[in-house]
Amino acid sequence: MSGALESIVTAIPGPRSLELAATLSRSEARGVTYLADDYPVFWESGSGALVRDVDGNAYIDCTAAFGVATTGHANPAVVRAIADQAARLPHGMGDVHPTEVKARLLARLAALAPVDDAKSFLCSSGAESIEFALKTARLVTGEPNVLAFAGAYHGLSYGTLEVCGIPKFRKPWNDQLRASTTFVRFPDPREPKSAELVLAAVRKALRRDRRIGAVIAEPIQGRAGVIVPPDGFLRGLRDVCSETDTVLVLDEIYTGFGRTGTMFACERDGIRPDVLCVGKALSGGFPISAAIASGEIADAWDPSDGEALHTSTFLGNPMGCAAALANIGEIERLDVPRIAREREPDIAERLHAIERRNPLVRDVRGRGMLWALEVADGATANRCVVGALARGLILLQSGLRGEAITFAPPPVIEDAQFDRAFELFESALRDAVAA
Ligand SMILES: Cc1ncc(COP(=O)(O)O)c(C=O)c1O
Repeated sequence: MSGALESIVTAIPGPRSLELAATLSRSEARGVTYLADDYPVFWESGSGALVRDVDGNAYIDCTAAFGVATTGHANPAVVRAIADQAARLPHGMGDVHPTEVKARLLARLAALAPVDDAKSFLCSSGAESIEFALKTARLVTGEPNVLAFAGAYHGLSYGTLEVCGIPKFRKPWNDQLRASTTFVRFPDPREPKSAELVLAAVRKALRRDRRIGAVIAEPIQGRAGVIVPPDGFLRGLRDVCSETDTVLVLDEIYTGFGRTGTMFACERDGIRPDVLCVGKALSGGFPISAAIASGEIADAWDPSDGEALHTSTFLGNPMGCAAALANIGEIERLDVPRIAREREPDIAERLHAIERRNPLVRDVRGRGMLWALEVADGATANRCVVGALARGLILLQSGLRGEAITFAPPPVIEDAQFDRAFELFESALRDAVAA
């Protein structure tokens, strides 16, 4: 499928997708998959930036499937690594009898991450890595409270809901949450002096509540609609945390592994967090994530006495470790950060051109290959995403009111697919705005 473009051969969704949607509506918990007459399509295979559905339609994926497929869907090196490992040993005994491949991945992460004397905890989901980071911060500081940002998304487990800055995700469980998080607004790059104002608010919150032991932030807020803070904000946050002995946890689950033009987004600001959480593009498709802590912080945990205080059945799963090692190798071979840096001005220019031709576009923002285009409201963004799907382009809605459309293609996207993606995007947007 190399270099192939979209190809729509049935109504969207096609008949097989509709059949499978009926199966889901009978058999999957209702809150999971959004099912409508025009959405979703069921994926069957993928290669590079292209995915095919069960009806034989092909789409250009400009979501990289939630930012996972940085080196392309079904990257051959990753597929081979998983298959070889599966044939040899698909499961080890994570914290009891580990595998060689787990040791190799841990050493690789320690060498790669901008974290001092890094020691990692491996887990399966991004949320779990955040929970480990928060548990670690508690151990090292002795303080139970956390400072997080409005609009933040760190996962949806109970532990991560505590620091989730998107109210709708918390609402049904609000009375079970501990109210131990202070939320401060995230800087808005469109407002003058917003970094300084927010940093002042962070300082004030840390002075007011001496029981805050950790600050957690995404270097660029993803789900909130790709909010890029002004230059200097992350550096300021690092300084505040260092001055107050507060643990700085950076959530690079979305931004990590090259997407924003450096291997980790915080490297653009030249800062080193105390704990760096990664997932998604770490493996290119296998559910594996990691909390990478500085040695000093990680050693707040006592050595295991034979019964780990925090672990899980699939910790350091060998297929996940093999996939991650292969994918990191691919990220380096392809030089994903360079691709993202080189594409950045082109994406900016093309999205701004779309903005100039569509007065209802409110904003264009992003970095590297993580961008969003903001429209008037969630209904318009939704029509655009659905219209794009029908044309053969996969996009995702984002933003606190669903008012943004994220554009985050796999960096391996080929030039012809890249050009075509903008044509399809603009055509879908034009119809969505006119409707
Ligand atoms: C920034 C960020 N943090 C955490 C998570 C949660 O990761 P997971 O869905 O693997 O639990 C996500 C997922 O979208 C994310 O984008």
